[in-house]
Amino acid sequence: MIGIFDSGIGGLTILEEIKKIIVHNNIIYYADSKNNPYGTKTDDELKKITSDIVDYLINQNCKIIVIACNTATTRCISYLRSKYPNIIFIGTEPAIKIACDNNYLNTLVLGTTATVNSKSVQKLIEKNKKPHQKIYLKACEGLANAIETNNNIKIDELLKEYLSPYHDIDSIILGCTHYPYVKDKIQKYFPKAAIYDSSEGVAKHLKKVLISNNLLTRKGKQTIKIIK
Ligand code: DGL
Repeated sequence: MIGIFDSGIGGLTILEEIKKIIVHNNIIYYADSKNNPYGTKTDDELKKITSDIVDYLINQNCKIIVIACNTATTRCISYLRSKYPNIIFIGTEPAIKIACDNNYLNTLVLGTTATVNSKSVQKLIEKNKKPHQKIYLKACEGLANAIETNNNIKIDELLKEYLSPYHDIDSIILGCTHYPYVKDKIQKYFPKAAIYDSSEGVAKHLKKVLISNNLLTRKGKQTIKIIK
């Protein structure tokens, strides 16, 4: 059984990609909307919340868990890996490498406050950015929650506030799994920019890890259970 979790509907954008290439393994998706947003929580709060979900998923017989959330990954994955050494964790991090590899000059990374201020994001930049490239980090506080609660007025207000100060951006990284839901609205601010999210990368990585650990199911009807 593959476990997947996020602070609500965000990780469903990852689940969609997983379903395209992993077609027999059973999946359980835990949408932790009651604790949304994760992005403004402390590390200790996040460790407690994510441990509770991992305990639940282990009880459901999950051997591999996808953290379909940039915030929980950048803040807790090392902690969870050492707390649960027998579980394989697959994380989700902003796709900064893709923008750097594709030679974009001005990249805007959008994420929660916890993600953009994380050491993991700093490390991704140090590892991938070439000297002539610029990377701007923008914490979009409130946006994931506005998407989770389907508050369109708030979404439009926040996007205006957060995006209008930027010009000449040629690539945008959606560093929160909720943001693909408003990709078209973001694109309107930067019609020519390439927009990337991590879903395809996470799905491909998951498949590779399933194969190398002999966990890829090769036949049978897949069941997908969503827990809210
Ligand atoms: N979807 C999550 C992420 O990728 C978390 C959003 C939130 O709950 O603040 O960061």
